[in-house]
Amino acid sequence: MTSVFKRVHHVLRGRAMWLAVACWVFTALLVVDLGATPHAVATSTLQRFGALQREGAPGVVSHRGAAQLAPENTLAAVDAAIRAGADFVEIDLRYSRDGEAVVMHDPTVNRTTNGTGRVDRLTLEEIRALDAGAWFAPEFAGERVPTFEEAVEVLDPAPAAVLVELKDEWSEARLAPLVALLRERQMTHRVLLQSFNLDTMEALARVAPDFARMLLTRELGDEVVDRAIELGVSAIGAKAALYAAFPQAVEQIRARGLGAAVYTLNSPEEWQVALERGIDFVITDDPAAFSAWRQHASDALSAPQ
Ligand code: G3P
Ligand code: CA
Repeated sequence: MTSVFKRVHHVLRGRAMWLAVACWVFTALLVVDLGATPHAVATSTLQRFGALQREGAPGVVSHRGAAQLAPENTLAAVDAAIRAGADFVEIDLRYSRDGEAVVMHDPTVNRTTNGTGRVDRLTLEEIRALDAGAWFAPEFAGERVPTFEEAVEVLDPAPAAVLVELKDEWSEARLAPLVALLRERQMTHRVLLQSFNLDTMEALARVAPDFARMLLTRELGDEVVDRAIELGVSAIGAKAALYAAFPQAVEQIRARGLGAAVYTLNSPEEWQVALERGIDFVITDDPAAFSAWRQHASDALSAPQ
């Protein structure tokens, strides 16, 4: 009996050893393939599988939460974007005087709350005391300026991907806790990080190389695409007038493997132009209307001629 037991033990130990070796080799190959850092193992599917280039009708990015459906950059707006089935929900981030990341577009709270003052001169407590909904419509009275953490809490279980815009300059130290939170929640593969600010984009390349990133730009042309490639981004975002001034831009961007996004289009006429230009993502304040239009456009595209 004892020898039978010993033999079984011996065989199992041998198999466990081979299994361990196989796991180790597989993990090592993954790390080598993806760029040799542990975080790179989780490298974004957005980045690796070209999900930022689309065929057919453009994807929908819901702007500032969903700025036409609810007060911009509030949890009500994020919720409206999710309910509208947006592919991405975009939010803007700034930091308070005490260094907390809050969801806010403007440098001041004047336009979108009942308060006044620069976001970076107010403490989180002062910002949190403001009403961020009543200016939009009475039924949104009581909406607060969300912290980044609160927005993530709502976005994490949602099917949508997330587009986070860093307004102005963010150092590595300021970015690190945001990136850590997203990694902790295993959201790396479904968050796209963007900024107009080149220093912020460089800091992101260092602190968040495993996240897909998008360069926002006020210029187009070969040099911008070269810079985007150097920064390791997956897409370029620009406003519609810029694409109109550089009609070859979408082709240039896509030829280098990047996606092209355009902001902020809110009418069927503008959406049609974006579709004809071959834009990959449309950033809109009304994701519900855009999705309905897109469905119609996709049916038309696939209908037999
Ligand atoms: O996502 C791009 C777009 O949001 C940039 O413009 O001013 O609305 O943040 P802005
Ligand atoms: Ca934005």
